[in-house]
Amino acid sequence: MTPSGSDPGIAVLISGRGSNLQALIDADRLRQLGGSIALVVSNRPDAPGLTKAQDAGIPIRVVNHTDYAERAAFERALVDVLRAADVSLVCLAGFMRLLGPTFLDAFPNAVLNIHPSLLPAFPGTNGAQQAWTYGVKVAGATVHLVTAELDGGPIVRQAAVPVHDDDTPETLAARILIEEHRIYADAVRDVLSGAWTIDGRRFVRRR
Ligand code: GAR
Repeated sequence: MTPSGSDPGIAVLISGRGSNLQALIDADRLRQLGGSIALVVSNRPDAPGLTKAQDAGIPIRVVNHTDYAERAAFERALVDVLRAADVSLVCLAGFMRLLGPTFLDAFPNAVLNIHPSLLPAFPGTNGAQQAWTYGVKVAGATVHLVTAELDGGPIVRQAAVPVHDDDTPETLAARILIEEHRIYADAVRDVLSGAWTIDGRRFVRRR
């Protein structure tokens, strides 16, 4: 599944399980992304998601953050790998490293992240657990453009789910994950369509 013709190339960055990666692979198979996944990169050599990429015939690379003394050097290595693959869009899918200006300046407005909460509520790690602990009655998922502000970039797509009284953090996270898988592909298609602008903090689709 390599980019064909003028199809924009997509890189997916993972650190772990890779269920969002799998959802993007499935959407790619159905030609629903507006581009093709050209490369999957993990910062962890043992990430189970790497097997999902291999099973789909997608090239993989490991850029192990522990090999780099400084974050900027790690990010330069990531940028080199992604530039060599000529990708237009970078999708963070459970990629658990903060990215700073060395990376973000190389891909302006071209890095997406999926987060398991209705941002701006519950940024950081364990968004679903945070929502459950707080006691909200509605939780959800967000896909946003990545900026220097943690989980703070313009929101491309969101989906809400109810929180039930008998939920555990695990059952809530599983309900949110179903929505993550649905909205990530939609958000990728939105961004690759190019038919949008940023107005202040707002991601606005052009009709
Ligand atoms: C997903 O729930 C994703 O939203 C979350 O990590 C999980 C990765 O699962 N990301 C964050 O919390 C980022 N702050 P996956 O590897 O099965 O896609």
